[in-house]
Amino acid sequence: MFFKSPQAQWQNILTKPLKQQTKFLNKVCKVNRRDALVIREAFFDNLSFDLVRDIFKLVNNVVDSDGIDPSFRELIFDRLFGVLDIEHLYPEDEEDDNVISGDGYHVYTANYHDLDLIVDFVNSCKDIKSICDLGSGSGRALLYMALEMNRELNYLGLELVNDRVEFTNDIAQKFSLENLKFKTCNFLSQPDMFEGFDAYYFYDPVGTDDVPKLISLFQDKISKGESFYILFISGWDDIMLNALNDLKGLEKLSSTHSRKQDDRFVSFYKSK
Ligand SMILES: C[S@@+](CC[C@H](N)C(=O)[O-])C[C@H]1O[C@@H](n2cnc3c(N)ncnc32)[C@H](O)[C@@H]1O
Repeated sequence: MFFKSPQAQWQNILTKPLKQQTKFLNKVCKVNRRDALVIREAFFDNLSFDLVRDIFKLVNNVVDSDGIDPSFRELIFDRLFGVLDIEHLYPEDEEDDNVISGDGYHVYTANYHDLDLIVDFVNSCKDIKSICDLGSGSGRALLYMALEMNRELNYLGLELVNDRVEFTNDIAQKFSLENLKFKTCNFLSQPDMFEGFDAYYFYDPVGTDDVPKLISLFQDKISKGESFYILFISGWDDIMLNALNDLKGLEKLSSTHSRKQDDRFVSFYKSK
């Protein structure tokens, strides 16, 4: 029998109607007898970024039509990006107070639903050509932006933990993304590393004690007359949110409840 590679099978199924796509997705992703979500690994490796983009759309369509357990969405997206099973990058016994570690599999990152709000906003602002993620962690947010944005932007992730930076640069390289880079640095002590971006994205970038320092760096930018946007998902407390709301020279453009986390807001600001 003629054997088609997983890549060829995806390409073929993308040309088929939703009913067949649903059947295929339920073949490569199953809920097992112990109610665990299981995916057939071979179908998720070595795919091009363009193909991954098309598969994301397929998955969204199937989920929206109730064709598969919706929990698969995040699992499939993470698996396609290669940001699954990375607990080793978030050790519990981390000594540095600045290093925020996450809970198990979710490794402390923004959820895809809230990232959709960020993507929609940036897509509507044609003057944003570059985005810097302050504390880029597992890289998931910037990978998703690079995938979903309606035009090519330049992305830089700054991250304290070198292992995370090496990991995320490997992914960008694997997908041949020249416009997505990650660098190891402490952005609080090296503010020159984030100079000149059109937009700054962050999600729990620093611990509470360091909020005033980060705010003062943005205050400096405003004083110098720099023009930039802030794309911010607020954290488990409102300290950063209140500080941004009160920052002189920063206009709040809009703010929406997180789609998944009750106590968080997705907010957009622009320097005046
Ligand atoms: C909650 S994660 C953010 C993940 C990512 N932005 C996202 O949305 O998926 C915060 C990250 O910021 C990093 N971080 C904290 N303080 C930092 C600093 N001063 N300089 C660089 N990275 C920092 C942490 O190591 C952690 O990986």
